[in-house]
Amino acid sequence: MSAPKKLFIKTYGCQMNVYDSERMAEALGGQGYVETATADDADMILLNTCHIREKAAEKVYSELGRFKGLKAEKPDLKIGVAGCVAQAEGEEIMRRQPLVDLVVGPQSYHRLPAMDKAVRRGEKALDTDFPEDDKFDTLKKRTRGKRGPTAFLTVQEGCDKFCAFCVVPYTRGSEVSRDAAQVIREAQELVEAGVREITLLGQNVNAYHGHDGGLAGLIWELDKVDGLERIRFTTSHPNDMDDALIDAHGTCTKLMPYLHLPVQSGSDKILKAMNRKHTSESYIRLIARIRAARPDILLSGDFIVGFPGETEEDFLQTMSLIETVGYGQAYSFKYSTRPGTPAAEKPQLPEDVMHDRLQRLQALLTRQQRDVQQSMVGRVVKVLFEKPGRIDGQLIGKSEYLHAVYAFAPADLLGQVVPVRITEASPNSLAGEIMA
Ligand code: SAH
Ligand code: SF4
Ligand code: F3S
Repeated sequence: MSAPKKLFIKTYGCQMNVYDSERMAEALGGQGYVETATADDADMILLNTCHIREKAAEKVYSELGRFKGLKAEKPDLKIGVAGCVAQAEGEEIMRRQPLVDLVVGPQSYHRLPAMDKAVRRGEKALDTDFPEDDKFDTLKKRTRGKRGPTAFLTVQEGCDKFCAFCVVPYTRGSEVSRDAAQVIREAQELVEAGVREITLLGQNVNAYHGHDGGLAGLIWELDKVDGLERIRFTTSHPNDMDDALIDAHGTCTKLMPYLHLPVQSGSDKILKAMNRKHTSESYIRLIARIRAARPDILLSGDFIVGFPGETEEDFLQTMSLIETVGYGQAYSFKYSTRPGTPAAEKPQLPEDVMHDRLQRLQALLTRQQRDVQQSMVGRVVKVLFEKPGRIDGQLIGKSEYLHAVYAFAPADLLGQVVPVRITEASPNSLAGEIMA
């Protein structure tokens, strides 16, 4: 038997890309590839890319440029681009960077084995179809030996919302949900491999309709999977938070008290221009209903500053919404013009205005995040230990609120949910003592 070929995958962008990278590695496993941690010794390099902001897309070309030397040394090295830049730019990538052998979109990567054969014959391979066949039916089972205690599981792909700033509806296509039975099977395979916590993924995960009961229906099915202890989901859209899902947050003990619910702006004028189809008030009312169902839920959000037309007054309304809601975690971005989106046609705000607003917004969000972390000191949380910490004898895991928690604990607690009393809060993590 020939020596295994080595595959190096670099993943950019969202968790859905993390999931796709795993599945691509599994698909190429059948072609005799094993994963390697560096590009230097790879026979195939795959960049799984993100197109969401200008910087993300440009990063891909600078990274590709860096492989020139490697490719000169090793003519058999094949270089591929996957993900959302692949979908958005297709063939253009090979024109702009001729060292690229393969371009594959997020909906066609189950065809990688055949594409690998083509590039090994010296051909170029391009596939950015949205094929009729279900890639999940073609992909193999999820049994790759023992895995860590947490896993992502994509259940929904694509977006029909068309926010005026966003490329996702173009790179990922329209909303598609996986059949619930197929998802449950995959969850069972993951649990058999040692997984205890599953995060359900979708560009609009709460628009899931692969089960009669929507995402809540799927969550209740997963609730019955023995050995699965924790369920999370991301990312959700405010307009798809139905009553059953809100109710599940109050009643399903496996569903963790953490919710990422992006609002983008607190100004109704800007929300309208963004085509978000909700107002700041309807969002705040929704949050109140979610908190009524699950008072201790930790909220997270996404914010964009400097959307075309945003005035200082609009921005202050976003600050005020943040004060009203109170976030335990958040992501915030300067508006980035994306070719092909409706907002790209509009006059842009000056860079220094966007920069200044982002600084002020992030200062507020950081303060809220620290306050929430500080409020955990003295409380007992339940931690799923995932791996050894940096210090000998220490383990690190996540609390139900998704805080990273360190504690000294015997290694046999890895993969288990353990009560931990929090003793200390630092900017990015908590420390505590196990109660066992
Ligand atoms: N489907 C998810 C995530 C979309 S991308 C959702 O609707 O929430 C993640 C985040 O990137 C968005 O929530 C938004 O805050 C940000 N984003 C998307 N397009 C952007 C752009 N053109 N400029 C700046 N931020 C953007
Ligand atoms: Fe983009 Fe809006 Fe769809 Fe989220 S809901 S992926 S921000 S278009
Ligand atoms: Fe980026 Fe595509 Fe995800 S654009 S954020 S990798 S869906």
